[in-house]
Amino acid sequence: MKKRTLYAALFGILLVPALAFTFGGWAVITVDDLPDYIVAGKATDIGFVIRQHGVSPLSGISPRVTMKAGDAEVSAMARPVGDKGHYLASLTVPRGGDYSVRIQSGFGSSENTLLPVHAIAAGAQPPRPLAEPDRGHRLFFAKGCVTCHVRGSEGMDGIKAGPDLTGRRYPPDYVAKFLADPDKSPLSKSNTTMARMPKLDLKDHEIASLVAFINSEGPMVGDVRR
Ligand code: HEC
Repeated sequence: MKKRTLYAALFGILLVPALAFTFGGWAVITVDDLPDYIVAGKATDIGFVIRQHGVSPLSGISPRVTMKAGDAEVSAMARPVGDKGHYLASLTVPRGGDYSVRIQSGFGSSENTLLPVHAIAAGAQPPRPLAEPDRGHRLFFAKGCVTCHVRGSEGMDGIKAGPDLTGRRYPPDYVAKFLADPDKSPLSKSNTTMARMPKLDLKDHEIASLVAFINSEGPMVGDVRR
């Protein structure tokens, strides 16, 4: 291959991921705590951290949270609370139903729409606890994984910075360690992109749910221990 052609080829290969990571304002929105259900007529606090490129907490922006079920819709601005890049909005849904939760960061067009959260009427029986993989599925959205990863038909409009997780399973202890601290984990050696998996300060029980969800389909990824 001639030198110039080689440069062109290298340029082509390297430019795409580099551009994806330096160009434009994208951020990962990670919700603090995701309840299994909420109660109509009672204020629900929704706290979250916004990290530019999944890494640097972003201050000085004005995020908005909107919850919607049919024609019932409530919306509120979030205010900065606590650590840098952490925001909180308080919303009260008017009646029971399955509410989509949309968080617009106010930073570029970055936003995150969570899987619907179930609201019960005040005084109604609490629903049965969610199964672990279902809770993990909801966290996959709420923690912002879906911004970077595709899994099946989900995450297709994200930035696809991480590997496609469709049909992948991992040794549970191993992937749990990876999610707790991606940089320290040997799983990172499987990195074939220029991007890093960010540390999202996940709690142990959230990691357990996420692992149950990730491992709920497909054959085990065999060579991740190397
Ligand atoms: C900012 C983008 C980004 C976000 C957000 C993100 N990841 Fe990743 N993820 C990556 C990248 C990049 C890699 C590959 C790098 C590596 O292996 O170190 C990766 C690797 C992984 C892997 C290992 C894949 C493999 O086959 O090696 C798993 C599992 C994973 N991520 C799950 C998650 C989960 C669960 C979340 C949400 C809690 C999440 N990721 C959030 C970018 C992201």
